[in-house]
Order: sequence, then structure tokens, then C-alpha cells
Amino acid sequence: MARPTSNMVLLGAAVLLMLSTLCKAAPVTACPSKTGYDALPDWTCNPIRSSDRKVYSSLAAAEAVCKSNSTCVCFNSAGEVFFSNDTQGRSQRGCAYVKQVCAPKSGYETLGKVKISTSKQGGGKENTVGSANAAESACNADSKCLAFNDAGLYITKILIVDSATTTTSCAYKKALCTNKYGFKYKKDSNFKGLSGLRGVKKDKMSSAAAAESFCKITPKCTAWNSKGEYVIGGVQGYESESDVCTYVKQPCPPVPGFTAYYGLAVNQGIGGAPVSTESGLCFSDIKTMCTNDPNCLVFDTLRNIWRTDVEPTKSFPGMCTYRRVAGF
Ligand SMILES: *[C@@H]1O[C@H](CO)[C@@H](O)[C@H](O)[C@H]1NC(C)=O
Ligand SMILES: *[C@@H]1O[C@H](CO)[C@@H](O)[C@H](O)[C@H]1NC(C)=O
Repeated sequence: MARPTSNMVLLGAAVLLMLSTLCKAAPVTACPSKTGYDALPDWTCNPIRSSDRKVYSSLAAAEAVCKSNSTCVCFNSAGEVFFSNDTQGRSQRGCAYVKQVCAPKSGYETLGKVKISTSKQGGGKENTVGSANAAESACNADSKCLAFNDAGLYITKILIVDSATTTTSCAYKKALCTNKYGFKYKKDSNFKGLSGLRGVKKDKMSSAAAAESFCKITPKCTAWNSKGEYVIGGVQGYESESDVCTYVKQPCPPVPGFTAYYGLAVNQGIGGAPVSTESGLCFSDIKTMCTNDPNCLVFDTLRNIWRTDVEPTKSFPGMCTYRRVAGF
């Protein structure tokens, strides 16, 4: 009888641990993507000179201005447009769109218009294949490839990035981690799973892609990594491990144009009463309904809907509350 009891205590501790890790999650906005721009959630450009910032009536107006003016470097969901790359960033709820100088390539980190080379004395290796497409395909096919540029160069040993030398060709570095919708990544990091507890399991699949698909469709999967491992249940913590990328599932599935608040509910009092509670509908129907109705400003996992903007502030473990970002 002693063992099940201590297991129960441990399981309880694991659940509490998981909740305490997850409850600290900051609100996260899912930004709809826009071609030609990097979408940055909960961040904004913040130019050093205030004259480099102009405010327009809407996100659409700001986007149109940025598109037509080549000095524009960035705009955001608050309708602000920034006209100088002499900018810092700061956090702000919503989405910022930063103009891309180089088209993004899946599986690569964009280095920009900078010089890449190798050190031949050190035994480095560079290859020239003539075109951007050929270099990208060659780099994809060669597991030793570190980087390529659209002048047709790819490097398979010792990469030197010279950010001080600008060039006309865009350079790309093979990424250890890439953005995955619904996950946050941790570079050079692995998870410490809790083993031997009921409801908590760490295992390995044949590939990273297999672990990713499994984790996506398995609600209790909390994380997976580039070695093909996954965790069901609470993660004890993370430890550094070079060349491993760990993807941690966001506790609230992202909804484009909305900020997700995990573990928080609307304080329902005067002014905070929902306009309706559609408990007959399933959550995905509520999500679709609210996304398509610009007057739906807030909704939650209990399928309450608000038509006024309220900030969720009341602690409610396990709850996901979604708040529309003005402009979408
Ligand atoms: C682009 O925006 C800058 C800053 O507002 C302005 O000075 C410039 O005239 C604009 N250029 C065009 C072509 O509209
Ligand atoms: C900003 O743009 C100018 C002109 O394109 C360039 O010379 C400068 O290096 C850029 N600065 C930064 C911080 O990217």
C-alpha cells in the first residue's frame, strides 16, 4: 500500500510543478503572417528619433504606407509606421511587422546581406554552384552544410559570418531551431522528463518530424526535440545540450490576431459579464465564430464571449482566455 501512496504524492507534486511552470507563461499574441515581413509578437520597433515614427488610423493604413514607401522599415498593429532602421525594440502587446531585406528560407536563419566565407587555412570548405536555387538545394541535401548565399556559394566546414561587410546577396545559415506554430523553442537545450510516474512519460521516435507530428496531435504532449524525443505530462526543467532544439507546446493553442492569456480569466462583475455563453458549441466552433466576428473581442475555454475589451486578470488554473488585438 505504501508505494501507490507515495506515487500519488509524487504525481501530485509533478502536476503542481507543471502548473507552476505553465502558470508563469506571459500572454502571447498569435500574429497573422504577412508576405515580405517578419511578424514579431508582443514587440514593437521603437526608433531613437521620435520623428521616425508616424501614426495612422489602422493597421491596414499603416501597412499600405509601409508597402509604398521604401524608407519604411516596420509597422505595427497599433497603426504606427517606422521610417528608420535606427531603432530599438520594446515590448508592447500586439504585432510588429519588420520589412524583410531577404526572403525567408524554411529551415534557415536569415543572416541578411552580409559576407559569408570560410577559413581555408583551418581546413574550411566552400563550394560554388552558380545559382541561389542550386546552393539552397545543395545545402538542404548536405547534412554538413552550414550556410549558403544567393550568389550560389555554400559552406560545408568552418563558417565565418562577416556582418560588417555588406554585399548584394542574401546569406542564410542552417537553423538549429525554426519557428513552429503553437510551440516556443529553446536552442541548445533539452528537457528533463520525470520518469516512472503515472501520466508522465519520455520516449523517442524515429525522427524529429515524427515526434513533431505526434506532439501536435497529442493533447498531453508538452514538448519534443530535434533528436525525436517527446514528453507526455510535466517537464521537470530544461538543461543545456548543444545542437539540440527543444520545442515546448504553448499551453493555449494560438488563434491568429488574438493574445492568449494562460491561467487567467475575466473578472466577471459589473462590465465584465459575458454577452453570451455558448456552452452548446465546442471550443473550435467558438474560435471560428469569434475570429469571423470583428465585434467578438474576448472569449475563453468555457465558451464565454465578450463584445467589450476586458483584460483577463483573475487567476484560473488551466483557463485560456483570448483577447483580440486592436487592428485585426
Ligand atoms: C516616405 O516617408 C518619409 C517619412 O515620412 C517621407 O519623408 C518621404 O517623403 C516618403 N516617401 C514617399 C515616396 O512617400
Ligand atoms: C540602416 O540603413 C543604412 C542605409 O541603408 C545603412 O547604411 C545602415 O548600416 C543601416 N543601419 C542598421 C543599424 O542596420
